[in-house]
Amino acid sequence: MDFNNKHVIITGGSQGIGFATAKAFIQHGATVLITGRNAESLRKAADEINSSNLQTLVADTSNMAGIMALEKVVAQSGKSVDVLYLNAAIGVYTPIQYVTEADFDAQFNTNVKGHFFTLQKLIPHLADGASVIFTSSGVVSAAGTASSVYSATKAALNKIADIAVNELAERKIRVNIVSPGPIQTPGLLSLATAETQAYLATRSALQRLGDAEEVANTVLFLASADASYVNGANIAVDGGSIQYMLK
Ligand SMILES: NC(=O)c1ccc[n+]([C@@H]2O[C@H](COP(=O)([O-])OP(=O)(O)OC[C@H]3O[C@@H](n4cnc5c(N)ncnc54)[C@H](OP(=O)(O)O)[C@@H]3O)[C@@H](O)[C@H]2O)c1
Repeated sequence: MDFNNKHVIITGGSQGIGFATAKAFIQHGATVLITGRNAESLRKAADEINSSNLQTLVADTSNMAGIMALEKVVAQSGKSVDVLYLNAAIGVYTPIQYVTEADFDAQFNTNVKGHFFTLQKLIPHLADGASVIFTSSGVVSAAGTASSVYSATKAALNKIADIAVNELAERKIRVNIVSPGPIQTPGLLSLATAETQAYLATRSALQRLGDAEEVANTVLFLASADASYVNGANIAVDGGSIQYMLK
């Protein structure tokens, strides 16, 4: 895959799936801008990638100020965006009975509002024929306890993506979704105990957690010319999800 002269934006790129994807795009010749809230994490990511093709920006996607800061940098660059990867998210796992308004709002603001308005503000900067990719999650087709708000944010995102497919088609912009299963990232490791991780591995037909690079490879495919007729797809990267195990 050749991404030379392609300009990629990744929200939530300082660690985990976003970071692995930034690294992979740079290895394939792209210039990449990654965002995150924490300047120190972005600096570490930049040190590790160590490429003049990488730019970082502190921008909180959960509020309009952060989104407009990203829009400003993109506008000032004078470059149109070939790949927009909307990836930043947070997850707070709590049974419905105990969810706070603050946790509800934080997840919807980051995982739904943030992506919606980032897409909206960057539409004028997208190249005709660009690729937009959303990170959703396999949780949408499951019903795991304590995941009601997080799962609802991802279901909402899927619907926004569905509609963007049709609204952007006139400009030949493709919109696709990648839905990871349990992937070993700092985000997952901070949420799940070793016991939970081992349990999550048993829910995959391949009986293991995935790596961030395995999601990145799928994102690169979706963004590439090889996927030129792939539009409106939702690709699971979960090793094959087991819903029921009858013995
Ligand atoms: N790992 C999994 O098992 C899994 C499974 C299904 C779906 N996913 C989805 O995959 C995506 C990436 O997950 P991950 O596991 O790689 O997460 P992660 O390790 O927690 O990394 C999340 C990234 O997003 C950034 N971020 C969080 N909130 C932000 C905000 N408001 N504004 C800007 N950046 C923000 C974080 O940086 P800062 O903290 O510095 O802002 C970080 O760079 C998410 O959409 C997640 O829902 C993950």
